[in-house]
Amino acid sequence: MPSETRSAGGDTRTFLGAIMRNPFELGAIAPSSKAVARLAASIVPDTHDAVVVELGAGGGVISDAIRERLPPGGRQLAVELNDDMVRHLRHSRPWLEVAAGDAADLGKVLGRAGVAQADAVISSLPWTLFDEQRQKSILDEVSATLVQGGRFSTVITLSAMPSRRFRRFRGLLEHTFTGVGTMGPVWLNVPPALVFTASRSRPGSKG
Ligand SMILES: C[S@@+](CC[C@H](N)C(=O)[O-])C[C@H]1O[C@@H](n2cnc3c(N)ncnc32)[C@H](O)[C@@H]1O
Repeated sequence: MPSETRSAGGDTRTFLGAIMRNPFELGAIAPSSKAVARLAASIVPDTHDAVVVELGAGGGVISDAIRERLPPGGRQLAVELNDDMVRHLRHSRPWLEVAAGDAADLGKVLGRAGVAQADAVISSLPWTLFDEQRQKSILDEVSATLVQGGRFSTVITLSAMPSRRFRRFRGLLEHTFTGVGTMGPVWLNVPPALVFTASRSRPGSKG
């Protein structure tokens, strides 16, 4: 179905169905709002050959925001673990390159798609469902994937922020990247959310 005729209701129905079947993989009570999606996608470079990778594309709302910003000639890949969401993305967004797989194996997943490095990585992964080892593995994979100076953004709901797992994630983010900052909050998101942004460290400058 062309993106122009695709229904946002269909995205939400598929996403909510997947949440009911597997809440601990989806890690959300609703898809991100368009406002959060636009903030997360604001790190997409304006160069014509940019490679942008999305982690945890779900129903595709952030994929749409990335597509809106990516200049012609760019390449956009969505990495998604959940089979239902992979099928939904492939059906609803035939223009999107969907790589089925785990963000913890990002290098291998991208390698199978013929991608060595990315200019930006955009995530809405449920970080506070992951233990510290898994958080670290994924952030290390993201760092190894980004070009020097490449940007990373990730959606974090305010409701997740008081948890110990979020504090560990925040520490790992500071350790792995430079220039960690935030955008938002977007109060009308369900639940309200911030977007964290960071850049790939210079080689040897950190962990
Ligand atoms: C919170 S939802 C976000 C969905 C959508 N991007 C949005 O913003 O509405 C998290 C998504 O990440 C996916 N996911 C969870 N763990 C993952 C992993 N290790 N690798 C890739 N995708 C993962 C889930 O299946 C789900 O689609």
